[in-house]
Amino acid sequence: MSRELKTTVAIIGAGPAGLLLSQLLHQSGIASVIVERTSKQRVLERIRAGILERGTVEGMEEAGCAERLHAECIPHDGVILSFDGESFEIPVKAITGHNVIVYGQTEITKDLVEACEARGQQIFWDCPDAAISDVDSDAPKVHFTAPSGEAVTLTAEIIGGCDGFHGVSRQAIPAERRRAFERTYPFGWLGILVDQPPVAHNVIYANHEDGFALASMRSETRSRYYVQSAPGETVDDWSTERFWQAFTHRLGTLGQQVKTGEPIEKSIAPLRSYVSEPMRFGRLFLAGDSAHIVPPTGAKGLNLAFADVRRLSRAIAHWKSSGSDAALEGYSLDALARVWKIERFSWYLTTMMHQFPEHSGFEKRMQRAEFDYIRSSEAGQSTIAENYVGLPF
Ligand code: APR
Ligand code: PHB
Repeated sequence: MSRELKTTVAIIGAGPAGLLLSQLLHQSGIASVIVERTSKQRVLERIRAGILERGTVEGMEEAGCAERLHAECIPHDGVILSFDGESFEIPVKAITGHNVIVYGQTEITKDLVEACEARGQQIFWDCPDAAISDVDSDAPKVHFTAPSGEAVTLTAEIIGGCDGFHGVSRQAIPAERRRAFERTYPFGWLGILVDQPPVAHNVIYANHEDGFALASMRSETRSRYYVQSAPGETVDDWSTERFWQAFTHRLGTLGQQVKTGEPIEKSIAPLRSYVSEPMRFGRLFLAGDSAHIVPPTGAKGLNLAFADVRRLSRAIAHWKSSGSDAALEGYSLDALARVWKIERFSWYLTTMMHQFPEHSGFEKRMQRAEFDYIRSSEAGQSTIAENYVGLPF
């Protein structure tokens, strides 16, 4: 059995980028079809970051999906940096006039899936074999097997490649036409969720001689904590006792107030910086992790994905309403200009706040000097603050 479908925008991936793109296109009266490799349940169960920039909140507002976010989010007006137990807070709201909010990516995905389903958005879940063709024509296609077993050919005017780092979209750009830039860090993050009140009212980034630690939250009663882990370590290498000992020790005096407990979730992730240029080939446009990855230091992954999607949805809407493809032509360069600034900030904070096996005493002194400079400098704190709340869109 085979089936031919047509739409304006074929979106590969029902993660935050794909879902937001579909929703924003709908707000502009543009139809889309989403093809997702895994199940709806798996997508909704994912636990990722939870700090949203102002631009991400604006994206959810433009999508008409910000009601629960505004009702349930926790505003953060500062961020705490700690170094070998000494800490200070950067008053980001006082400096920039903007705050960030705590609202888990899990909740973002839930809100977007709910909005998509409420308007009857076609999402093909459980389609692991999507393939792309004809991207350099004006009728690009996505081929996949629907759960029904039907071989579907989805013909569109544009393909939104929102299928993350391990997707197929980036590979649909000929290898000789793309260039990758990558930095893999010599450590990972082990993260836990625990139903205990957070240790602080703002996020804590801590550099300690034993390693990095981060204290965040999902609500007033649920905390999200991370410690730097060594390359190759797995979740099984980190008993609950080992985690709490490392986490509380690396936070110094702040660690003495930590309320410990049995984690309800534990996971480990590698850290990398990655950019693939260009973010467009023919009628294929990449958005989110399909084009770039940032280390989680600074919580920029979701926020950068949403910035791409807002830019892409506006460019598509402009093209469909005016016939001009100027914004589409400028998409890759404009998106990459922001991507590289966010890559820089994430790399900078990662380099400043982690223990690197290869670092000599000199680099460790440079880290300490950076910390002391920022603690003592309004200009230094303003630089971090404007990046943390989100560069202007
Ligand atoms: N076909 C269809 N769907 C695919 C394919 C494929 N070949 N490969 C991957 N996908 C799906 C994944 O199952 C996932 O649901 O694409 C989606 C990509 O979602 P994300 O990886 O979350 O990427 P993105 O939407 O760009 O969001 C970026 O979300 O996961 C976080 O760390 C990430 O914060 C970042 C943000
Ligand atoms: C989180 O709340 O999960 C979080 C916060 C800040 C980060 C990364 C993750 O830099």
